Amino acid sequence: VNGKVEIPVVVNVLYRTAAENISLAQIQSQIDVLNKDFNALNSDYSSVPTLFSGVKANVGITFVLQNVVRRSTTTSSWTTSDAMKKSAKGIAPTTPTTVLNMWSCNMGGGILGYAQFPGGASATDGVVIDNNAFGTTGTATAPFNLGRTATHEVGHWMNLRHIWGDATCGSDLVSDTPTHNTANYGIPAYPHYSTCTGTPVEMTMNYMDYTDDAGMYMFSNGQKSRMAALFVSGGARASFGI
Ligand code: ARG
Ligand code: ZN
Ligand code: CA
Repeated sequence: VNGKVEIPVVVNVLYRTAAENISLAQIQSQIDVLNKDFNALNSDYSSVPTLFSGVKANVGITFVLQNVVRRSTTTSSWTTSDAMKKSAKGIAPTTPTTVLNMWSCNMGGGILGYAQFPGGASATDGVVIDNNAFGTTGTATAPFNLGRTATHEVGHWMNLRHIWGDATCGSDLVSDTPTHNTANYGIPAYPHYSTCTGTPVEMTMNYMDYTDDAGMYMFSNGQKSRMAALFVSGGARASFGI
């Protein structure tokens, strides 16, 4: 990656209420968090335990806000069925092969956000974030008001799996992250031991776990490699250039 991947971002805002029509300041606060978290500039990066200091990563990818598209809607709560990405009721993505599209909307059922992995249809590519978990100001609400939902979702968009591999003692296909029993929530006390093979200390502060925003503050070198591989020639997101 070498600090050369620069991702243009278009934020698509769907709003039923005035509050859901999030401000440019709230949108920029989210871009700022992505730029900190993907460049090891987050203030809590230094809180990574010594045990993991050898594998914590500066991913070296930057994000540039290119445009904001807004549309009012009568939909009070969206699901994960991609309707917000379609011109019928939502906003179709802007040139998804060269732009990371983000949607801010009101998600139902306590869903903070969801993402499309590389290799999927262009028409639905991007990440969706509930307006109450978007950025750090305005409608952002604790404990998901530090912008880490987008960091996590962009991690998926860059091919990262959940650190517990979505199974008991499952694999995230990354060798320098420990095997976790399952998802962790809240802010776990350190050290939290896994009962999986080898009983490793879990990396609960990884962005790809399910803790509160304040509990997640690192990617690993192995995760960085998985992300970097997408942007080189032949990679699934090579159209974003190097
Ligand atoms: N549940 C969502 C997902 O699996 C996001 C979780 C984000 N967590 C957070 N602390 N913001 O993609
Ligand atoms: Zn996830
Ligand atoms: Ca692992």
